[in-house]
Amino acid sequence: MGVLSKAGVASPRVDAELIAAFVLDVPRGRLVLAPPMTPAQACRFHELVARRADRMPLQHLLGTAPFYGLEIAVGPGVFVPRPETELLVEWGLGVLPAGSATVVDLCSGSGAIALAVAHERPQATVYAVEQDPGALEWLRRNASGNAIEIVAGDATDPSVLSTVDGRVDLVLCNPPYVPAGTRLEPEVARHDPYSAVFAGPDGLDVIAALVARVAAMLRPGGWFGVEHDDSHAIAVPGLLRADGRFGPVTDHGDLAGRPRFATARRLADCTS
Ligand SMILES: C[S@@+](CC[C@H](N)C(=O)[O-])C[C@H]1O[C@@H](n2cnc3c(N)ncnc32)[C@H](O)[C@@H]1O
Repeated sequence: MGVLSKAGVASPRVDAELIAAFVLDVPRGRLVLAPPMTPAQACRFHELVARRADRMPLQHLLGTAPFYGLEIAVGPGVFVPRPETELLVEWGLGVLPAGSATVVDLCSGSGAIALAVAHERPQATVYAVEQDPGALEWLRRNASGNAIEIVAGDATDPSVLSTVDGRVDLVLCNPPYVPAGTRLEPEVARHDPYSAVFAGPDGLDVIAALVARVAAMLRPGGWFGVEHDDSHAIAVPGLLRADGRFGPVTDHGDLAGRPRFATARRLADCTS
C-alpha cells in the first residue's frame, strides 16, 4: 500500500485490496477469508501494484469498471465510465415512460449508459452512437448479447440515426467536455482517449453542436440529459435555452454539490 500512496494514488488501500481480490479471484469483502497467495499470485499482485503505482487506471488493470450494478469491459482506447454518470442514468430512468420507449445514448464510449438503461428497461429500444473506432470495439464487446443498436458515426451529424427523428423519448449523453489545456490526473491524461475528454478551448464544442441534433431527435415532451464540466452550470443550460425548442431547463449537482448535468424537455413545435 505504501508504494501506491507514495505514487499519489487517491485510494491506496481500496486499490490494493481490489487488486488482491482480483488476483485471488474472490470478492473484496471475502479477502480476509481467502487462502494465502501462491508464489505465482504474489508475483502477479506485485506486478499489478507496480503498474497501478505508475498510475495506470485500476479499471484497466482489472479489465472492468462497475457501472449501475453492471461490470463494463474497459481498457486502452476507451473512456472509463465514472460513478457520477450514474446520476444522469438515474435521472433518465425517472423520466422515462413505463413500457416501450426509444432511448438514445450519444457519445456512448464503452456503452455504459446504454447498457444500464437496457438492463433497467428491457422493453425500451436503446441506440448507442459512437464515432471513435477504438471505443466502438469496446462498445461492440459490451453490447454483445444485449439488446442495443450500435450506430457508428458522428453524433452531431444530422444524417446519423435520422430514422428516429421526432420519435425519441429520452436522449442521454456524457460527451467530452473538459476545456483543452486543463491539467488532469495521470490516469485520465495518459489513458482516457483525448477525444473522449477534451472539447475545445471552453469544453463546449461537442455539447454546442449536439443541441440542435437532439432537438430534432426528440418527440414533443421527450427528455434530454447531458453531463457537463463543473464550470458549465450556466453555459450548458444557456445553450439549451438559446435553441428555443426546449422547455424547462434544469441544472443538477452531483453528491458533492458540484454542477454535473443539465436536463431539458422538448417543446411541441409551434403551428401557425
Ligand atoms: C466522456 S466519453 C463518455 C463515454 C460514455 N458515455 C461514458 O459515460 O462512459 C465521450 C465519448 O464520446 C465520443 N465522442 C466524442 N465526440 C463524438 C461525436 N461527435 N460523435 C460520437 N461520439 C463522440 C468519444 O469517442 C468518447 O467515447
